[in-house]
Amino acid sequence: MSKRFYITTAINYVNGQPHLGHGYEAIIADVIARARRSMGQEVFFLTGLDEHGQKVQQAALAEKKYPQEYCDELARDWQAFAQKLELTNDDFVRTTQPRHKEFVQATLAKLHAAGHFYKASYTGFYSTREETFLTEKDRLPDGTFDASYGEVLELKEDNYYFRLGAHQQWLIDTIEANPDFIAPSYRRNEVLGFLKNNTLEDLCISRPLARLNWGIPLPFDPEFVTYVWFDALVNYASMAAAHAPLNLWPADIHVIGKDIVKFHAVYWPIMLKAMGLPLPKQILVHGWWQKDGAKISKSTGNIIDPIAVINEWGLDAFRFYVLRELDIGPDGNWTDAGFRSRYQAELANGLGNLVNRSLSMLKRYRAGVVPARSHELAADAAKAADETRALLKQNQLQAALQSIWGLVTRANQYVDQTAPFKLAKDPAQAQRLDEVLYNLAETCRILAVLLNPFLPGTAQKIYGQLGLTDLPDKLAAAAWGGLTAGHTIGEPAPLFPRKDV
Ligand code: ME8
Ligand code: MG
Repeated sequence: MSKRFYITTAINYVNGQPHLGHGYEAIIADVIARARRSMGQEVFFLTGLDEHGQKVQQAALAEKKYPQEYCDELARDWQAFAQKLELTNDDFVRTTQPRHKEFVQATLAKLHAAGHFYKASYTGFYSTREETFLTEKDRLPDGTFDASYGEVLELKEDNYYFRLGAHQQWLIDTIEANPDFIAPSYRRNEVLGFLKNNTLEDLCISRPLARLNWGIPLPFDPEFVTYVWFDALVNYASMAAAHAPLNLWPADIHVIGKDIVKFHAVYWPIMLKAMGLPLPKQILVHGWWQKDGAKISKSTGNIIDPIAVINEWGLDAFRFYVLRELDIGPDGNWTDAGFRSRYQAELANGLGNLVNRSLSMLKRYRAGVVPARSHELAADAAKAADETRALLKQNQLQAALQSIWGLVTRANQYVDQTAPFKLAKDPAQAQRLDEVLYNLAETCRILAVLLNPFLPGTAQKIYGQLGLTDLPDKLAAAAWGGLTAGHTIGEPAPLFPRKDV
């Protein structure tokens, strides 16, 4: 069987409720998955939860729950969130599942047998919040450690280490030979800069049971559990193995946020090399959202609850805003005013108005029956379709939306220029009115096809209002002329109701 296109999100820590950042990342991956399917590729889209480690153990403890019980409860919320976003994920991994744990243990046993690990004693500083060892280099000028590390403990303990350092030059060569491996390119440059200016230290891959018990036991030493990142990263491979007949590995795209680049672009490739597996084709790094220019933080109440936004404005308004507002790469800033203004201008007055007036006029002037084919907007539609296809292949989601809205704007101008409501009053203009109505209805149909990966619900509504019974889920259908003369459309209805603010 040929290889499927395999796309993943980071697996989210299950120590709280989903927020805007998690929603954004999932939507990016979902749009790419839907776009690839729409281009005829077989796709496997994976998302899920990272359930082990100190953060989760502490969160469970704070609620006086057993970690597994705590994870099971939150996992329900996270799975409901995936449904709320209408993600088309093909599986949902939880790192506490036996299918994952067994794979991690088998991997550890194999790497241990092959001599990739050694045991050593460490004396130094440890950040529980970041679950990481700190060195003298991490100290601030005043001798303290940054507040983001939380409580820093001084400790001495035995642990297992993965021989990471030995592969530093190989990794540099690999990243240099594969320009698309880390995207956008400035993230790639950061990783290369880091690798060229620092000596990679070996990675501690265990935590003593005495300090942390919420983890996967090392198969070769029951006194230790696996370091949470060595467990979490492996989910991408354990799920490929769980679906072995689908031929998923190597992954095509890991979608992640900028804070976890080092884990994905440094540790993970070296782990894969040791495992004898090929590297993922791309690590696609998005930026971080802020709200009103400040870090999203529960403690300050500076959060956006995606579920509340979706309940008020609809899923597609949420999907549209995050993708249209922020390109994949830089940081973004959510403002309620910005959200409302895009809703009003681009969704309600732009797309919504175009579809509603186009179909309403067809209904009123031609009883909803599609007139003979006409090609006046065909070139504009072809341009938008070609651009969208090319941009989707490069994961340029924001630019694709801009191109699609170029067609929305063009078609709205066309209504104003041709003034079909005036043509309708003059029987001598009947043929001209037919042409205009055909061009508008067909443009709406093509817009539905182009929008389907981004706004699947809206795209389906447009198809439904056009009286089409199939789905707008094949990009090939964006070719001009799909609507045929004599076809009767359905009932027009507003796509984005205007809100009084
Ligand atoms: O890091 N804006 O989990 P996580 C945009 N379990 N993206 C954001 C964000 C924000 N404000 N806040 C978080 C972990 N994210 C690990 C991953 S993968 C093998 C293990 C993104 O729940 C963040 O960048 O802290 C990451 O990609 C994802 O949400 C999960 O973050
Ligand atoms: Mg995080």
